[in-house]
Amino acid sequence: MTLPPSPEAALDDLLREDRRFPPPTAFRDGARVSDEAIYREAEADPEAFWARWAGELHWFTPWTEVLEWEAPRARWFSGGELNVAYNCLDRHLDGPRRNQAALIWEGEPGDTRTYTYWDLHRETSKFANALKGLGVGKGDRVAIYLPMVPEAAIAMLACARIGAIHSVVFGGFSPESLADRINDAEAKVLITADGGYRRGNVVPLKRNADQALERCSSIEHVVVVARGWNIARTTQTTLKPGRDLWYHDLVAEASADCPAEPMESEETLFILYTSGTTGKPKGVVHSTGGYLTQVYATTRLVFDLRDDDVYWCTADVGWITGHSYIVYGPLANGAAVVMYEGAPDFPDRGRFWEICEKYGVTIFYTAPTAIRAFMKWGEEWVGKSDLSRLRLLGTVGEPINPEAWIWYHRVIGGERCPIVDTWWQTETGAIMITPLPGVTETRPGSATRAFPGISATILSETGEEVPAGYLAITRPWPSMLRTIWGDDTRFRETYWSKWDGIYFPGDGAKREEDGYFWVLGRVDDVLNVAGHRIGTMEVESALVDHPAVAEAAVVGKSHDVKGQAIAAFVTLKEGRQPSDELAYTLKGHVAEKIGSIARPEDIIFSADLPKTRSGKIMRRLLRDIAEGKALGDTTTLADPDVVRRLKERYEEGA
Ligand code: PRX
Repeated sequence: MTLPPSPEAALDDLLREDRRFPPPTAFRDGARVSDEAIYREAEADPEAFWARWAGELHWFTPWTEVLEWEAPRARWFSGGELNVAYNCLDRHLDGPRRNQAALIWEGEPGDTRTYTYWDLHRETSKFANALKGLGVGKGDRVAIYLPMVPEAAIAMLACARIGAIHSVVFGGFSPESLADRINDAEAKVLITADGGYRRGNVVPLKRNADQALERCSSIEHVVVVARGWNIARTTQTTLKPGRDLWYHDLVAEASADCPAEPMESEETLFILYTSGTTGKPKGVVHSTGGYLTQVYATTRLVFDLRDDDVYWCTADVGWITGHSYIVYGPLANGAAVVMYEGAPDFPDRGRFWEICEKYGVTIFYTAPTAIRAFMKWGEEWVGKSDLSRLRLLGTVGEPINPEAWIWYHRVIGGERCPIVDTWWQTETGAIMITPLPGVTETRPGSATRAFPGISATILSETGEEVPAGYLAITRPWPSMLRTIWGDDTRFRETYWSKWDGIYFPGDGAKREEDGYFWVLGRVDDVLNVAGHRIGTMEVESALVDHPAVAEAAVVGKSHDVKGQAIAAFVTLKEGRQPSDELAYTLKGHVAEKIGSIARPEDIIFSADLPKTRSGKIMRRLLRDIAEGKALGDTTTLADPDVVRRLKERYEEGA
């Protein structure tokens, strides 16, 4: 097995970690589940378990078959018809939730808006009618490129209501990344905003979108949300007549009566692009019935969600966490969801904690990279706010080092809140490995056990169960990806070709006698930078796109806040000289091509890259150099001297 390129120190810590945290008695006593029996029941009949959860949703037509499975093709709740927006909104209108908060939104400048379930239903229905008016119908693709504003959730729900397939593109992506995603899905409509606030500045989304659209022929209309009317003031962008329309004009004229389209359970709800091992991102396709069932069940049990909870997940809707645990899971449960537009350190580093106090947040879900930043900023920022309402904390997106876990537990959770470390992926759609907070004894750094009804293990290359190796999911699960948009071969090859009928997530993991999983990080050429997935090939393509670059190899190196940072080894074309200016330019070039999340931390110029005799770049050696470690075996190299020279150069520069 290739050892995952995760931070070595953190790995050592993980391997030594033996602290245990049973659920606090007060928590367990009131928890939705406080009994191990749920694991046994689900294991005895997983299909019956999932069918019970599906049965809590509203179906226009009942399903005939819980699961049909012919690997890798799964059909969950076949024959059943439902609508996701109906389940997230209409279902709550007949009871006491009708006028309760669904979305509590705060903009970065401090403006706020609260939507009740009834409000959100009305706004969604109006916008759904507006989309219909633009010719959007069932199965059409709609790209959404928005900041964290309520309209992002409304746009997603409006698509779901009429059976259109949304493809949300994170607002931090470049025009080129946006264009690639629009073109791959052949989206008909793009929904964007004049801008969104980030650290006091306005991110010019419409200007990016205009640049992207120069390369897109499928888009017929662009709907523009006026976020603060900053279009003329800051971005100087205008609307293109005939193509672009203001969101507020469209909804002003639209009827609030829009019946929810019955969708067959297996019909596509959304596409979400994620990075893989090639330069081209994959459009992960999610279904309707299975997806909603698992996000509904996991939100309820993993977060122990109650009617009086105030739930805040700090992810962006541009990522799967935002889809499943800001929008669909919590709203299907009728939760009060906090949504925040901006940066955690604006106007100061206490912003998140002020928000927690202001809205009385009880459940808080964030990424380890954020926790490490909070640790670095210091406890005094946390101490300024009253966090006594918090009762449960969660993490997602990358392995959490025990030091950060313990800090989160002590400083944010006041030693009374259980922590749920949730392992899952864009492809899994919903949480897969996690504690149940009223049942599971937690261990810092371990995501603990598979969720009831999920079957996970660790396998060797050849498929034997081993204590340390590749994480594997051995049974189909309701919210599993159904394919990669337009590329079913890649779907089969990436996830289903390692073992027979078993899903390969691409992560390394280990397990101890207690059966707890310790997910150690990616085993493929995918990096996890500040909780964001970035393919090394994407960054390499961006680098070689620059006229000065002949060849590039990208690896991850440990970073104390981001988990991993990007180190790029670059060979220049004849006649080009390495310089600090060029390194700076290349970093900027990558940020411009992909988005600033992909900006390399280090650029290391080299006359040659270490290659095997067959010409394959030896990334393992590059990783060792970037980590400042002793070099491993170099005997297979065509020219062992290359790597010695590189190491010297790196150490000089470091
Ligand atoms: O490597 C694992 C890591 O994040 C990857 C999935 O990234 P993405 O599809 O962007 O989804 C992130 C949000 C679900 C996984 O393959 N990962 C995610 N959660 C954890 C994790 N690694 C360790 N522990 C976790 N809790």
